[in-house]
Amino acid sequence: MSETAELVAVLRAAGETTRLRLLALLADGEQSVKDLTEILGQSQPRVSRHLKLLADAGLVRRNAEGAWAYYGLADEGAGSDLARWLVGRLGEADPERQRDRLRLAAVRAAQQAQAAASFAKVADSWDLLRSLHVAEEAVEVAILGAVDGRPIDTLIDLGTGTGRMLELLAGHYRRGVGIDSSREMIAVARSKLAAAGIGHAQVRLGDIADLEPATGRGELIVIHQVLHYFDDPGRLLGQARQALRPGGEMLIVDFAPHGLEFLRTHHAHRRLGLSEAQMAGWARAAGLSVAAFSSFPPTNATEGLTVCLWRLRDDPRDQH
Ligand SMILES: C[S@@+](CC[C@H](N)C(=O)[O-])C[C@H]1O[C@@H](n2cnc3c(N)ncnc32)[C@H](O)[C@@H]1O
Repeated sequence: MSETAELVAVLRAAGETTRLRLLALLADGEQSVKDLTEILGQSQPRVSRHLKLLADAGLVRRNAEGAWAYYGLADEGAGSDLARWLVGRLGEADPERQRDRLRLAAVRAAQQAQAAASFAKVADSWDLLRSLHVAEEAVEVAILGAVDGRPIDTLIDLGTGTGRMLELLAGHYRRGVGIDSSREMIAVARSKLAAAGIGHAQVRLGDIADLEPATGRGELIVIHQVLHYFDDPGRLLGQARQALRPGGEMLIVDFAPHGLEFLRTHHAHRRLGLSEAQMAGWARAAGLSVAAFSSFPPTNATEGLTVCLWRLRDDPRDQH
């Protein structure tokens, strides 16, 4: 194909109302086809066809994950530049864009409510659940190793659940802050920390996808088994970085890619694990770099999940 023909094909792909709406939605973060279908109010085959055209033209990228597929704006190349330019031209105040954003917020709110209901049910038994078939003990040893000898004034634990990370690392920080959106989890965390005599950590109800400025900043941010509940973990990393002091570090613990679809259908997971390549891309976009990576195979090799630990360092070249 000549360059002219190629350019015409790309412009054709972008030059359609639904496809422009899709580009604008993807500019706000990675989305699943399932959610995009709901937001646009069109049939799934139709939305998939639009997305395929955008992907073939290099404007978006596709990432298949179990029975779902996630889309985002292309990361590089002429298609990426054009997609971002078009979305910029669309502007924030465009009425159609605002309507789509409201629909996206409603879809996310419904998912959050479902996730919160599922966390409320397991709050009391979470500490038992969290250690099932995963090498939790080895992961905790590695987490302790990662913080050893580092002066940490403030540690922020995002999605603190029952506060296990605040408890594990209690000897390493001056002040600990745990945030979680589940009242039930927060209640368990509070009483557990009190029982353990950990008075220098506090837990608060809050949405980590929309961190309050009052959260402050920490030298260390922990996100332990939380990112897979988000459609766009990269976006959350960007948010979390706002709460990181310059030169600080994030410890991310999550599952390696897996195929256990029931975790999505029955346990509110959104992503079936996170790959090293995905994390490297999300970290870069958030102004962080991967300083270390380790993985821990399941204790029961036939049915468990591999757990990964990433140490992400604030990139001082990327200004806060
Ligand atoms: C699987 S638990 C992990 C808890 C803890 N980090 C641990 O590993 O024991 C995930 C936690 O993330 C919390 N969570 C999910 N979405 C959240 C959000 N948007 N804001 C705050 N917390 C959230 C849930 O309420 C839940 O307690």
